[in-house]
Amino acid sequence: MSILIRGGRVVTASAEFVGDVYVEGGAVRLLGERLDLSADEVIDATGKLVLPGGIDPHTHLDMAVGRGLVTSDDFDSGTAAALFGGTTTLIDFANQEPGHSTFEALDDLKARAAGKAHCDWSCHMTVTDMAPDRLPELDALVADGISSFKMFMAYPGRLYTDDRTRFRTYRHVAGLGGVILMHAETGLVIDELVADAIAAGHTAPIWHARTRPPELAAEAIHRSAVLAKLAGVPLYIVHMNSAQGVEAMRRAKADGVEILGEVCPQYLHLDASWLERPDGGRYICSPPIRPLGHQEALWRALLAGEFTTVATDHAPFTTAERALGAEDFRLIPNGLPGVEERMSYLYSEGVVKRGLSLREFVALTSTRAAQTFGLYPRKGTIAPGADADLLVWDPQVRRTLRAADPAIHHSRVDYSCYEGLEVQGGPEVVIQGGRVAVRGGALCSRGQGRFLRRGPYARPAV
Ligand code: URP
Ligand code: ZN
Ligand code: ZN
Repeated sequence: MSILIRGGRVVTASAEFVGDVYVEGGAVRLLGERLDLSADEVIDATGKLVLPGGIDPHTHLDMAVGRGLVTSDDFDSGTAAALFGGTTTLIDFANQEPGHSTFEALDDLKARAAGKAHCDWSCHMTVTDMAPDRLPELDALVADGISSFKMFMAYPGRLYTDDRTRFRTYRHVAGLGGVILMHAETGLVIDELVADAIAAGHTAPIWHARTRPPELAAEAIHRSAVLAKLAGVPLYIVHMNSAQGVEAMRRAKADGVEILGEVCPQYLHLDASWLERPDGGRYICSPPIRPLGHQEALWRALLAGEFTTVATDHAPFTTAERALGAEDFRLIPNGLPGVEERMSYLYSEGVVKRGLSLREFVALTSTRAAQTFGLYPRKGTIAPGADADLLVWDPQVRRTLRAADPAIHHSRVDYSCYEGLEVQGGPEVVIQGGRVAVRGGALCSRGQGRFLRRGPYARPAV
């Protein structure tokens, strides 16, 4: 199967030109201004952008969180929604159960994805329990293509890891050429604040945010950065969300820490007042969405090139599941949906409204995730030999985001964090692995997603 994409503006993180892209056998073969080639299919991209397929390095598909609750997108609906939004690769999470091996977690996730994934995918390993005799598991995982490890400073009694476990893991991962992902919130102190709030009768959703102040995110970023520097491991802070957190990242960088920041559209878009609405439980995530002001601080950092990636932390739960915590915010499952909206949101709010460059848009949505997580140059760029994951992007199309609109909402969740927002720009054709995956509002290629074995960490070069 060959495809010739003609006459679009081809944009990578480091270059752009108007011309043609020729794809054959699942890979990009040739780029040029007027390629003298025929193909099984010719796509006219005049007036359109041709971009590398998006990479979302932070999703939680089919993830069990206890009490019988599971994120509402599995690998079928979640990867379909990703593709409709222009994301052709996801990196999800295998979550080690304390006391169990990491291999069990990986096998479980692979079984959940089997035969369902429509786009390519991989996973980070969430480490919760790393006794010294378990460390060789990490060597085996890296050899098997899992080179990134997430740890939590939040959620004591569940996912939380202590300093000793974290430092031990950091040092071992440093020796393996991997990268640590950190959920940076000081969970032990948060638990004290939560207990106080509940004792005082404060059970409404806004108290979820009030008991997780940004100072405790900044403090956790600082502390994890100090230990990462000592261990010599690159540290990727997931879901950065506050002005204080950005300051902590800046200080760590100035101190020579190899620290990278991920931000998510929900933290750029929503503020804590949403938690005080009658449906406030829908907007519970950890770290929480922040009071007005933090969003502009995050945008300023993004426009200044301080973030490495824009990911989603896609962790959808339905309105009914969130209502379980109507009387007690502790019972609301954490996490927000957004895998389909990520690229259109950032294009519209970033490129169109705030002057984000096209190359930085590509770097944030694709290239740097590929570099950080060992997928580059197979993914994250448009170059001969790279996987043919390509978007023909219409820079003019306008849509109003609505969860009830089946043409633009494919996630199995009954609301959108961006409800009513008009966005400009979106994918017209999505090509994944050299096949047309989405066109004309239809998913044309099903179940073709591959599990990706990833290489070591590489410092993002763009
Ligand atoms: O609230 C969130 N973010 N839930 C998903 C799990 C995590 O912490 O990333
Ligand atoms: Zn997290
Ligand atoms: Zn997450």
